[in-house]
Amino acid sequence: MDNPIIEVKNITKNFKGLKAVSDVSFQIEEGKITGMIGPNGAGKSTTFNMICGYYPASEGHIFYKGQEITHKKAYDYTNMGIARTFQIMKPLGNLPVVDNVVPSAFFGRYGAKSLKEAREIALEVLEFTGLYAKRNVLAKDMGTPDQKRLEMARALATKPEMLFLDENMAGLNPAETEEAIALIRRINDSGVTIFLIEHIMKAVVSLCERVIVLHHGEKIAEGTPEEVMNDPYVMEVYLGTKGGHNNA
Ligand SMILES: Nc1ncnc2c1ncn2[C@@H]1O[C@H](COP(=O)(O)OP(=O)(O)OP(=O)(O)O)[C@@H](O)[C@H]1O
Ligand SMILES: [Mg+2]
Repeated sequence: MDNPIIEVKNITKNFKGLKAVSDVSFQIEEGKITGMIGPNGAGKSTTFNMICGYYPASEGHIFYKGQEITHKKAYDYTNMGIARTFQIMKPLGNLPVVDNVVPSAFFGRYGAKSLKEAREIALEVLEFTGLYAKRNVLAKDMGTPDQKRLEMARALATKPEMLFLDENMAGLNPAETEEAIALIRRINDSGVTIFLIEHIMKAVVSLCERVIVLHHGEKIAEGTPEEVMNDPYVMEVYLGTKGGHNNA
């Protein structure tokens, strides 16, 4: 690969006897959208969490732009230009949408110097993500699609170079999924490298240049969406008797 922004080398995560991720290696190319798929419990979120410094890898090494970040803490990441969303959304429900985004604008590579500047960044990001009209609505009063957008807005307000999205489209209907796909493409077009976990295959196929497949904590395939979907073992995992994911 010409230009890896992230390099993961032989990472493993043990949770008290359970090997959630086992000896996984891959690279993420700068400027592209890379996807990670696999059945429930395959180790996708665990892999994300190790790369994002949410918890440490038990073994292995992680590099960001050639610099080892394996043991960096989550709070170092924002300054490095890395942002993420969580599989479980965590909005500040009793605050208006804009006030959910303002704090993020103080962090990150540029970091707002004043509340006024932070609000300007927040409103700009809300415009970009299609939430501007709801800027004064309480976060808890919005439905799932808008809460997912809000998660993205909070991540984008840190002005990341690299964005990690963990199942950002779960629970969306087909029309909402199309909108989310369009937004992710717009984010990528603005120059942000994206690594996403997604069960909705349509989204993976239309967005990702490369896809990594995990199963039981191991990487079982990697390639273009076509290549991995035509891989016999991947087909067996998804469609066969081993128990695939039903909304794949
Ligand atoms: N903090 C933790 N402590 C103990 N076990 C964990 C922890 N986090 C995850 N696991 C276990 O590790 C395995 C991988 O989980 P992970 O959440 O990474 O899967 P996933 O691929 O993201 O699945 P899903 O598609 O359901 O989100 C599972 O068996 C899970 O129960
Ligand atoms: Mg997960």
